Amino acid sequence: MKVLSGIQPTGRPHWGNYFGAIQQYIALQGNEQSFYFIADLHALTTVREADVLRQSIQDSALDLLALGLEPDKATLFRQSDVPEVTELTWLLMTITQMHLLEKCHAYKDKKAKGLAADAGLFTYPVLMAADILMYDSEVVPVGQDQVQHVEVTRDLAQRFNSLYGADCLVLPNAHVLDSSAKVPGLDGEKMSKSYNNTIPVFETPRKLKKIINKIVTDSKALEDAKNPDTCAVFDLYRLFADENQRQVLADKYRAGGMGYGEAKTALYDAAMESFGPAFEKRIELENRSDEVEDILQAGAKRARSKAREVIERVRSACGLVGKPAEL
Ligand code: ADP
Ligand code: TRP
Repeated sequence: MKVLSGIQPTGRPHWGNYFGAIQQYIALQGNEQSFYFIADLHALTTVREADVLRQSIQDSALDLLALGLEPDKATLFRQSDVPEVTELTWLLMTITQMHLLEKCHAYKDKKAKGLAADAGLFTYPVLMAADILMYDSEVVPVGQDQVQHVEVTRDLAQRFNSLYGADCLVLPNAHVLDSSAKVPGLDGEKMSKSYNNTIPVFETPRKLKKIINKIVTDSKALEDAKNPDTCAVFDLYRLFADENQRQVLADKYRAGGMGYGEAKTALYDAAMESFGPAFEKRIELENRSDEVEDILQAGAKRARSKAREVIERVRSACGLVGKPAEL
């Protein structure tokens, strides 16, 4: 199975991103072809400061590697290190009907707000289609919000194939990540950057403790029986704990005599046990940035070799007869 997904380098990961996305991407590594890239070209539609982008790209690579992406099981690369993808974007653009892009949500939402959208945002889904089709990807793990883009990709591949030859592009399938585990934030609402209620994956123990202490609970007294099913602290704890540990804490909630402070300490301990090693690994990797660069370059080389094979097929299918000039 050929798996591919892209992650935009915008913002440091929080617990919602980890449990709702990153953990599930990483679980799919080790397939026949597992490609994961940092979508730096897509990020250019929102990040306009070169230093910020550079740093975010580096951060994303470190985050993924620290959280368990293994370079011998998965190919990690920067999107912009495979320039064939922008060529494929153009070729796809020539067969993309405007109405297909006009209904895509990022552009539509911006326009509905009366904001001026640029061509980059409008054609964002075509670049994403090129990302996917460039490597003959079969399975694309994405969150619900990206399913529309995979559908556009299928439409474009179908149209291209009907124009230029049935077997030219491989039709991908979205693998929708299980987001039924909607991770709650500090206020009990969905954890999200936009709500300012996040808990970062990479945090020092002292700060993490402080943040966890801010999780909102009801005002039941220590001796009162409590309901684990309506408590954000317990909801978060269950992400880290096994069935047995969940049961033990749930029983304590229901029995009374346990304050929320104790539940928060249990959550803190579980989070430290789970993310502590990744935190250490990230610091180690930061000090070995040459090695991280080597990983990205080796990844780009592998990805590019597949991209060359596909772009040759596509060029020849649509009648481009030349070859890129050798330098
Ligand atoms: P944010 O809402 O903080 O801006 P993003 O939209 O960048 O987060 O999220 C990237 C991915 O992380 C989403 O596609 C989704 O799968 C996952 N995700 C984000 N927040 C949560 C959450 N609270 N619960 C579950 N999954 C989440
Ligand atoms: N648009 C995706 C997001 O914002 C990132 C992305 C870019 C992607 N290219 C992709 C995801 C190709 C899957 C496949 O999350």
